[in-house]
Amino acid sequence: MGNSDAKNEYPDQVGIEIACLQQTLSLSVVTGLALWQWRLEACQSASEAGVSVAEVDWLLRELAGLDTLALRLESFREQSQIELRYPLSVLSQLWQRRLQERLPIQYLAGTTPWRNFSLTVSPAVLIPRPETEYLIDLAVEAVKHSPTSDLELGDWADLGTGSGAIALGLAEVFSHATIHAVDSSAAALAIAQLNAQQLGLIERVRFYQGSWYSPLTAFKGQFSGIVSNPPYIPSHSIQTLQPEVRDHEPHLALDGGSDGLECIRHLIDNSPDYLRPGGIWLIEMMAGQGNTVAQLLHAQGSYSQIQIVSDLAGIDRFALAYRSGK
Ligand SMILES: C[S@@+](CC[C@H](N)C(=O)[O-])C[C@H]1O[C@@H](n2cnc3c(N)ncnc32)[C@H](O)[C@@H]1O
Repeated sequence: MGNSDAKNEYPDQVGIEIACLQQTLSLSVVTGLALWQWRLEACQSASEAGVSVAEVDWLLRELAGLDTLALRLESFREQSQIELRYPLSVLSQLWQRRLQERLPIQYLAGTTPWRNFSLTVSPAVLIPRPETEYLIDLAVEAVKHSPTSDLELGDWADLGTGSGAIALGLAEVFSHATIHAVDSSAAALAIAQLNAQQLGLIERVRFYQGSWYSPLTAFKGQFSGIVSNPPYIPSHSIQTLQPEVRDHEPHLALDGGSDGLECIRHLIDNSPDYLRPGGIWLIEMMAGQGNTVAQLLHAQGSYSQIQIVSDLAGIDRFALAYRSGK
């Protein structure tokens, strides 16, 4: 089984349900007392199910606009009206899915924080992870330390864009660049485009459906940088992942083939054709893949200054290199 198994693209229908709900339901109004009671019961059920109680307040911040102080002091209890994104009955049903089916809380809320963004997410996209935020800082550092001029301008690619997180992060830090965001999933691209629209970055990011470089052949030799967080989990490990990931995140976003390196190998082999001399190649990978990825980059022969970079937990997580040549 490879990462091209599109049957797994929608592990369940809840994303579509939530997207429909968000479009069709207008804001619901509840009393502070009713919401206080709901929170009490949700916290109780979270403890019993081994889910962090903090998730209840995170959800109420996202869906009811309550702030941390109002939650801590429980002052919202006195409010006669609180606007809630779903009716309380729908929220209760979704909360039960969190507890019983381990639906990730971010899919329930339909949003996740990432860098300084609030991104829309659904089960059509991987929930962007905090460690991936660092890719954007690494890209900025790589540009600063490159002898090649003008890398912050021109064209950049985000391959496997998912929610659009990396493309949007790059668009923000490289304000004169155009970002080309590719994904093989049409459903993921729809979410990425929505995020670009919501963040006011739609003019700066172009979206393409297709496999890796196939929609970008017109850009051979032109990219200042290529950034990717590709699927990198070995197929046989997917079943060992926590249920939130295994049962709800798209396997297309996770499955890196038999040794986890199928997509990374493809990117190593094909990127030199697409990068300008001195252009930046930057990816995220799984713990334990650093040595092999460095060897593959050396063996390919078109990369220089190959570096494996750790994340904040000290785990080898990113690979950075430059396209050789002047
Ligand atoms: C690990 S997710 C990363 C998503 C997002 N960039 C992030 O960091 O949160 C990998 C993404 O690669 C996409 N993908 C998988 N195979 C692909 C292919 N052959 N061509 C293009 N994209 C692909 C998946 O749909 C998924 O969105």
